Amino acid sequence: MKIAVIGANGQLGSDLVAAFSENGAAVSGLTHADIEISDLPSVSHALGSIRPQVIVNTAAMHHVENCEREPEKAFAVNALGPRNLALVARDLGAVLLHVSTDYVFDGSKGSPYLEEDNPRPLNVYGITKLAGEYFVRATMAKHFVVRTSGLYGKSPCRAKGGLNFIELMLKLAKERGEVRVVDSEVVSPTSTPELAQQMVQLSHSDCFGLYHATAEGSCSWYEFAREIFAITDTPVRLKVATPDEFPAKVPRPKYSVLENGALKSRGLNTFKPWQNALHNYLGNRIKSPSPKICI
Ligand SMILES: NC(=O)c1ccc[n+]([C@@H]2O[C@H](COP(=O)([O-])OP(=O)(O)OC[C@H]3O[C@@H](n4cnc5c(N)ncnc54)[C@H](OP(=O)(O)O)[C@@H]3O)[C@@H](O)[C@H]2O)c1
Repeated sequence: MKIAVIGANGQLGSDLVAAFSENGAAVSGLTHADIEISDLPSVSHALGSIRPQVIVNTAAMHHVENCEREPEKAFAVNALGPRNLALVARDLGAVLLHVSTDYVFDGSKGSPYLEEDNPRPLNVYGITKLAGEYFVRATMAKHFVVRTSGLYGKSPCRAKGGLNFIELMLKLAKERGEVRVVDSEVVSPTSTPELAQQMVQLSHSDCFGLYHATAEGSCSWYEFAREIFAITDTPVRLKVATPDEFPAKVPRPKYSVLENGALKSRGLNTFKPWQNALHNYLGNRIKSPSPKICI
């Protein structure tokens, strides 16, 4: 099986390359230097020379503030990019796995979102990612659109850069002894190795369609920090920050928990509670220092 992974040096892409390779596939990892997804000739050339049976797209413009500043560029990458990939995948007869986001929802539901819930994005990032989903779904049948949330993994998130949430928490605790975290945003933090395994499993199925794919359960960022400190036995004073201490520059959903309804109804769900993956991440961190996470 020939697989092309786009965004191969990204946070999720690097774990997808590893997971598909371990599964015995011949993987071509494409970085931004190899392909520009917003440019159809580039997509056609890069994928035409590989002729993969499965194309996995993780590439996106997903720095939320940058999307707000440059909406046309965000549309080109997040909406026209997946359309270009779908057009080429259709011509090649390939399956397309495309990664999307919990930010297609506005967060007002207050209970976990199912695939059939109506999306209502609050910002340019969410709007353009939703348009990308629609392009894929309208262009070709052999697709998996996979919405996920709160990714973290060993490789850094290239779009956001800097320290990831777990590393930031541990650094602040060490330096200041006190950490303040908001309790008002609820997510399902999801580890990229676990998501990569789920996507490998999905690629073996022919149940094409839209999927929610996150770790089981949910927590606020404050609760996530509390668990990080508990597992690592870090001495710290953890406090709830008021929303105006860290005002959001761009509107975001307050509650973006996804229910893996489609995976479960088809017997395909492989996710464990989010605490399990966090334990694994922190365990591996001791073995190989300097991992990063992205929120
Ligand atoms: N991170 C999260 O918490 C989160 C949550 C929900 C959904 N998602 C979705 O998950 C996916 C992967 O996220 P991630 O954290 O792994 O991202 P990441 O680390 O920023 O990786 C994205 C990769 O895509 C490449 N890329 C960006 N624009 C491109 C373009 N126009 N053409 C070709 N390649 C391009 C990047 O290369 P360069 O860096 O060299 O440009 C990078 O290799 C994205 O689709 C995102 O929307 C992420």
